[in-house]
Amino acid sequence: MRAYTLKNKNIEVTFIERGGQIISIKVPDAKGNIADVVVGYDTMDETLAGDGYFGALCGRYANRIVGGKFEIDGEKFQLDCNNDTNHLHGGVEGFNSRNWTVTPVSLDKFVQAYKLSLTSADGEQKYPGKLEVSVIYGLTEDDQFVIEYEAETTKPTVINLTSHAYFNLCGAGHASAVNHKLQLNASRYTPICAKLGTASGEIVPVKGTPFDFTSAKTVKSACDTDHEQINMIQGIDHNFVIDNYNGSTQLVGTLLDPVSGRKMEVYTNQPGIQIYTGAHFDGSEKGKNGAPIEACAGIAMETQIFPNSPNYANFPNATLKPGEKYKHTCIYKFCK
Ligand code: GAL
Repeated sequence: MRAYTLKNKNIEVTFIERGGQIISIKVPDAKGNIADVVVGYDTMDETLAGDGYFGALCGRYANRIVGGKFEIDGEKFQLDCNNDTNHLHGGVEGFNSRNWTVTPVSLDKFVQAYKLSLTSADGEQKYPGKLEVSVIYGLTEDDQFVIEYEAETTKPTVINLTSHAYFNLCGAGHASAVNHKLQLNASRYTPICAKLGTASGEIVPVKGTPFDFTSAKTVKSACDTDHEQINMIQGIDHNFVIDNYNGSTQLVGTLLDPVSGRKMEVYTNQPGIQIYTGAHFDGSEKGKNGAPIEACAGIAMETQIFPNSPNYANFPNATLKPGEKYKHTCIYKFCK
């Protein structure tokens, strides 16, 4: 499996063809100490055999579609279900398990960039329309790792692409991310209604709940709160509704490791961000540094449309029609 590395004077991002999976991001702290800030494995063999969502590109529809069902203009579709009775992250063979075609590209705004592309056939995982997808991974001079997604379809379909890295700014495999401070420009979130984490369709204020990250606070303080939404999945696995969403790329959140001082800002043009604290990691698998991967080994910050949007009229529209272009930007900016 071929690995590709993007480098500027501070940061190094390495990814592979399978799933466009980001297998390491090496970032210095203010003293110049380098840490690899994404959860993963020490070897390629473990990476290929391990959790296929770590750092991967997810699609055609990232997150859950309840029952794998949706309708477009009265036509009903039934996707394969791979998460009990739901469709998750594009199905059994989502984009995370596909081999992407990788080519170097030269773009003025990036020190270095690669284009990853794939074709998703009409009917793949039972989605309608042939989809041409391209993703740019670019690194800027000022330490922004930029992901630019584009897609076009031959038939009306649904789309929600995301990147599924779990960040640990202490260095993956060295300490838990539970004491990271998280801040989100989100005064509302979408609650879940069952153990499987499917969105209920409501949009509710975060005020007075553990989901209030409008001011920075530790992830632990939220996860330790006795609240039914936290207890249901032993942590956070929720979509937050970005304030003042207008389709342009804006700062939506910040993650900070108070010990090293490493900080990551997240920018996107998407209406939502799924925060996942990795409750299902039970320590049975060894990751980087030989350390068991436990809950809160890292925190996923997945920019996206909302979960199950195709079935809720009050959620943003996830339909892509022929002649339209899906455009999604996500930026992870590393600061000291
Ligand atoms: C997250 C999702 C979690 C879990 C994980 C994949 O995006 O919110 O519930 O399914 O992906 O392991």
